[in-house]
Amino acid sequence: MRRNSYFSQVAKNYLFSEVAKRKEAFFHENPHSTLISLSIGDTTEPLTPTICEGLTKAAALLGTREGYTGYGAEKGNVQLRTRISQEIYQGKICPDAIFISDGAKCDIGRLTLLFGPNVRIAVEDPSYPAYIDTAIIHRGYENTILPLPCTPENDFFPDLTTAASADILYICSPNNPTGKTYSAKELEHLVAYAKAHKQFIIFDSAYAFYVQDGRPRSIYEIPGSKEVAIEIGSFSKMAGFTGIRLGWMVVPSELCYEDGHTVQSDWVRLITTFYNGASSLAQQGGIAALSPTGLEEITAQIRFYKENASLLRQACLERGWQTYGGIHSPYLWIKTTHNTSWEAFDDLLRNAHILTTPGIGFGKSGEGFLRLSSFASREVIHEAVQRIKVTSCATFPSGKVHMTKNRARVM
Ligand code: MLT
Repeated sequence: MRRNSYFSQVAKNYLFSEVAKRKEAFFHENPHSTLISLSIGDTTEPLTPTICEGLTKAAALLGTREGYTGYGAEKGNVQLRTRISQEIYQGKICPDAIFISDGAKCDIGRLTLLFGPNVRIAVEDPSYPAYIDTAIIHRGYENTILPLPCTPENDFFPDLTTAASADILYICSPNNPTGKTYSAKELEHLVAYAKAHKQFIIFDSAYAFYVQDGRPRSIYEIPGSKEVAIEIGSFSKMAGFTGIRLGWMVVPSELCYEDGHTVQSDWVRLITTFYNGASSLAQQGGIAALSPTGLEEITAQIRFYKENASLLRQACLERGWQTYGGIHSPYLWIKTTHNTSWEAFDDLLRNAHILTTPGIGFGKSGEGFLRLSSFASREVIHEAVQRIKVTSCATFPSGKVHMTKNRARVM
């Protein structure tokens, strides 16, 4: 049996696996250090009371004859799809176009299967590494991936110079990692571009709830976008479901291939073949999250992470670091003066005992940047702020490390 040769075209480890390996090596060398993790964007705050109640009730029901359910509906729980339609899309997307899934990352992987081996994708550079890695594993890099540089010089709006030959544009807003949040005008431009070049847009809205200044949270706020765009949504960063796993995808019935076939019918064929939907329990958690009290609670939790981001941002700016993002996004994107972003990563790790994510892990244009995540307790953020303020010191006070779910905590 021959190996899929495309595996030799991706880095040996997925970005966050590589960071985790380096963290373990650091612990090995510095067993008594107090490490702060501002690396992977993993939520830290407990589930809200309404979500917990929804999950607990649903679990108890499954233990009764009347309440037990097995396989769910093909597209997902209709009550959940209706809530997403009403609460996320104000009724402008019908429940029939919403497909519940076990998370955005899984949908990103399945999308590569949907479009098959012969498509070219244009991707913001830097961007969430799963877009490119899943595509390379399916199709290889050569002639299939077109990186679109997003830099401070172009205000992180993708340079479309090489995008014309692409079949699909991947856009994430607010962007992971840069924090760039597209204006309506910018999205109108992208929708018009995709139409003119007969392209589809995959719009990742995983961080949409962090937008609070009236900018679009969804591509469907742009007129005409239903004919070109698929949207990916997620409960992970919105409601703390990184462990529970729940997401959705919108595939409008207006979206058609050049031969007139609807994308929606192929998507139904694909998901019913490849998996049996999201966990019924997780879906009950999602229904609770989108109830009136659930929405109030998750909005407060997002405000909390945004305050974390603001504290970190302030500290970085006071240090004179060139800092982007962190306003409508839980991530800060920081320009470093090091030769490589792995060097900057090592410097902050060794001298401040802060774990970050090197920009190069998100694409070539990420070289020279570091990403800081604001998903942490307030105690950890205050400690991080202190360390950022004095990080020219070679060392920090040592103490014990308490590991929870693979995350280092300050005691
Ligand atoms: C991130 O930290 O960018 C992601 O949320 C982690 C992942 O899903 O790979």
